[in-house]
Amino acid sequence: MTVPLTPSDRIAAVDSVIRGRRTCLQVDPDRRVERDVVAELCDLATWAPNHRRTEPWRFAAFDGDGRERLGDCLADALAARGAPPERVTKTRRKYLRAPVVVVVATSLGVDEVDTAERRDAVAAGVQNLLLAATARGLASFWSSVPVPDASELLDLCGFESGARAIAAIYLGHPTGECPPPPRRRAAVGWIS
Ligand SMILES: Cc1cc2nc3c(=O)[nH]c(=O)nc-3n(C[C@H](O)[C@H](O)[C@H](O)COP(=O)(O)O)c2cc1C
Repeated sequence: MTVPLTPSDRIAAVDSVIRGRRTCLQVDPDRRVERDVVAELCDLATWAPNHRRTEPWRFAAFDGDGRERLGDCLADALAARGAPPERVTKTRRKYLRAPVVVVVATSLGVDEVDTAERRDAVAAGVQNLLLAATARGLASFWSSVPVPDASELLDLCGFESGARAIAAIYLGHPTGECPPPPRRRAAVGWIS
């Protein structure tokens, strides 16, 4: 029998997941994260607010050798665009640091405002994904994607042209903790 959470339990649970989420790459790269779990996290991302319900999120999950293909794709795209060799070399191997990397992209809107609002929705979805991962005891790391609109990347991910990758999310089982960076309390301007 499931015992429903009291309102104060719900508040404590949500607040602790929000404050406990960290950008952290201390993970075991050789310990799998089940594909079902990754699929569930992506599904939870889609519960983010989304103006006009455009469903702008696109997901591509890389595990095993797929991570190497992602690194090669982005390294080659960077090299083709004249990036420094050190950056190219680093990019080629970086996605092997976690067992799973999820690339999340946003679709192109019909105008500038729509494109911006789609991206807002996808960013909210990414936060859902990160919080859901945290609640499941997984470490996560939101990383920017080099050449986020490169056709090579969109093709590899199976995304349509015009999409733009806004996150490469590393996921894994934690091997250590990352300390929370300092944060200022939110300054709220009240107008009444
Ligand atoms: C859009 C976006 C892109 C980010 N890209 C990177 C990145 O490329 N490398 C990185 O180290 N952290 C990246 N981060 C994570 C931030 O550095 C991190 O959220 C910040 O340091 C606060 O730490 P916390 O998430 O543990 O609270 C990114 C975060 C966002 C929202």
